[in-house]
Amino acid sequence: MKFIIDRFDGNKNYQQTYTVEKKDIEALTLLGTLLFIKQHQDLTLNFTASCRMAICGACGVRVNGHAYLACDTKMTELFEEYKDTDIFRISPLSNYTVISDLAVDWEPAIENLRKVKPGLVAKSEFSEKEGCRQNQEQYDRIVGQWDCILCGVCASECNKLSADRSDYMEPFVYTRAWKVANDSRTKDPMIHVKPSVTNGLWNCVHCHECTNRCPKHISAAEDIAGLRAMAMRKGLNSGVGPAHAKSFYTDLVEDSGRLNEIRLALRTEGVSTALRAGTAVTLMRAGKMNPLEIFGGHTIEGHKDLVKMIKAAQAANKE
Ligand code: FES
Repeated sequence: MKFIIDRFDGNKNYQQTYTVEKKDIEALTLLGTLLFIKQHQDLTLNFTASCRMAICGACGVRVNGHAYLACDTKMTELFEEYKDTDIFRISPLSNYTVISDLAVDWEPAIENLRKVKPGLVAKSEFSEKEGCRQNQEQYDRIVGQWDCILCGVCASECNKLSADRSDYMEPFVYTRAWKVANDSRTKDPMIHVKPSVTNGLWNCVHCHECTNRCPKHISAAEDIAGLRAMAMRKGLNSGVGPAHAKSFYTDLVEDSGRLNEIRLALRTEGVSTALRAGTAVTLMRAGKMNPLEIFGGHTIEGHKDLVKMIKAAQAANKE
């Protein structure tokens, strides 16, 4: 098998190919394979790892373009997933600055984490009887997010970060903010929600790649949606993002039940911006928008049931 590994020596990027017998690595994990190459072929190969049991989050790398937790990925799984090839391209996580070979700089991501105050800021008053103990329901609400090990796989897969890192944070940062904001012992959820809003919460592009690849099956995309809902409930609802969300609601519930692209653009960006920036005009030219739809369209079949479903989801979200 061939492993083409992206390397960086501090000055230049290059690729190095290592040839390994399949029988030597088929019982190993991906991390085991990297260690095998380091021990048997090239001591200079750099990567990070510590616990080897999917706890420390240090061993994220990409294989053939997608991020994996190396110690939690069996080579047999990779052979199955990429059964048409015996060549694997191993690269550092995307959306991070590379320090050396497969090792990346975590400091900017940790700085982002600090912005949302990821540690619990507990309320000062607890009942004398219960103290700060949580009941099962309160614990279950946040236990999934406790599993996040900050491996960076979600950030590597994030299409928004790939396009522009300047106005967004790593998806796991929002997951952390969601977790502490939804902890029954928190003093004030807004301590975590507000900095999420001011640091790109509404800029998620809904590709869900963070969710698809998370080795702990956590949905950062859902946590982002949850934080947005919390922000809007608390009155943080100005700007393009909340206007866009409200427009979806208006179309689905108050209007015909059909998403109306022309109204969506106008409501989200405002008439002058939508026309000036050309969004509406471009969509109309491409046949994506029917100008007549500005007057609304036929109500869809089953609209009453759709409204019932949305109202039920809203009620559940408020609980
Ligand atoms: S080495 Fe710790 S998570 Fe992989």
